[in-house]
Amino acid sequence: MNHKLLLVNGPNLNLLGTREPQIYGAKSLEEIVDEVREFCWPKGIEVLPFQSNHEGSLIDFIQQQGPGAAFGIVNAGALTHTSIALRDALKGVGLKFIEVHISNVHAREEFRHQSYLSEIAAGLIVGLGTGGYLLAARHWAQQLEA
Ligand code: DQA
Repeated sequence: MNHKLLLVNGPNLNLLGTREPQIYGAKSLEEIVDEVREFCWPKGIEVLPFQSNHEGSLIDFIQQQGPGAAFGIVNAGALTHTSIALRDALKGVGLKFIEVHISNVHAREEFRHQSYLSEIAAGLIVGLGTGGYLLAARHWAQQLEA
């Protein structure tokens, strides 16, 4: 187990499963984390999940765990559209990460079209539902095998 994968979720993603299920689906964050863990475990990837509704707590986690991590999957929720501080933290520790959004943010309100993270992300998975997390994990696993 020497490859650490940070699975970072921002504000309100703790409500997954009950929050606007027509947009965000029926799965809870716990179920999603379990799915990603199950996929990653046999591949020698250790998943470190973290969810917070607080910008500073997310930044603290990234500062603490980012330097030792091989890669990340980040759904920053609404902070995606507002937080230069979160972007700076991700860039500051040099974390390679995939930006994930469950919903297609580009088909929604205009304020969701802007992301402070996309420019520094390795890639983006947007609008493919909660399965996007697993797709991102699959990508990182393939990178390890390559
Ligand atoms: C989200 C999209 C954001 O605009 C929103 O604020 C969220 C979830 C998504 O996964 O689709 O909280 O990141």
